Amino acid sequence: MLDSASKAFFHLLARSGVLKKLASRYGMRPPTNFARRFVAGETIAEAIEAARAVEGRGFAHTLDHLGESVGSLADADAATLDYLRMIDAVIASGIGRNLSLKLTQLGLDVDKASAIDNLRKILNRAEPAGFFVWIDMENSPYTEVTIEIFDTLWQQEYRQIGIVLQSALHRTERDLQRLVTLGARIRLVKGAYKDPKSIAYQKKADVDAAYERQMKVLLTEAQSPAIATHDPAMIDLARRWAADRGILADRFEFQMLYGIRRDLQTTLVREGYHVRIYIPFGSQWFPYFMRRLGERPANVAFVLRGMMGE
Ligand code: 2OP
Repeated sequence: MLDSASKAFFHLLARSGVLKKLASRYGMRPPTNFARRFVAGETIAEAIEAARAVEGRGFAHTLDHLGESVGSLADADAATLDYLRMIDAVIASGIGRNLSLKLTQLGLDVDKASAIDNLRKILNRAEPAGFFVWIDMENSPYTEVTIEIFDTLWQQEYRQIGIVLQSALHRTERDLQRLVTLGARIRLVKGAYKDPKSIAYQKKADVDAAYERQMKVLLTEAQSPAIATHDPAMIDLARRWAADRGILADRFEFQMLYGIRRDLQTTLVREGYHVRIYIPFGSQWFPYFMRRLGERPANVAFVLRGMMGE
């Protein structure tokens, strides 16, 4: 229950306007810059620099221009434009071409059709240039509609897109079967959002058991799946499951977030696994940052130590 209580606590804090204002003022700037550990910077130039460094250490990456829950079509259009600019900047820089985005960033709360149009605009620029685009999963009110939009685009022959499933949700087993059958690329996560117990497992042991079942299905049946976790126990299970069945390391990848378990990231690359680092950047980092604090006590410790100048 501790996990779910901690998520709930940070979820609550994340809704505080005062905290958001204070954090946004001090979090990314020296000397306090406590959010830097998890957020690569506020500008695309900083994100590209981080991506180069990550590539230099043998990792792939996916770039997320942070943003979510936009409340107007004007903000959704601005976020779309940010992505289009980012695509051009990534092409010009020569780094790997892989993006992650959220549908509420593109206006899903305001108007679904506009969000789909915005996503199409991004894909129409990104796909011909060889980008792969991950559609992030948000909290449970968005699960169904995110899968539906993914499916719509898939039917329209967009193929360089991937979707995320959260093993914390009771429904994921079914969604997994449906998406594996479609041939979609899936990123499997445990789930960083706070969802009610009618919808989501609340105990770590239950989430882990679901993750293990789903990860095995992905490794044996899915197209280039992404095992996205920082949990060494899950990672060990994945390695062993793959090795025992002769599933080669280039048939799947591990994904981890920027700044989290860097030791584990490095070990996996040294062992010959593909590891993709999710690199978030931009001024709208507060909700993302708060999810990181809520999902792992060690992340809180990093931030506190950073703030005390250690
Ligand atoms: C998040 O924004 C990584 O998509 C995940 O928390």
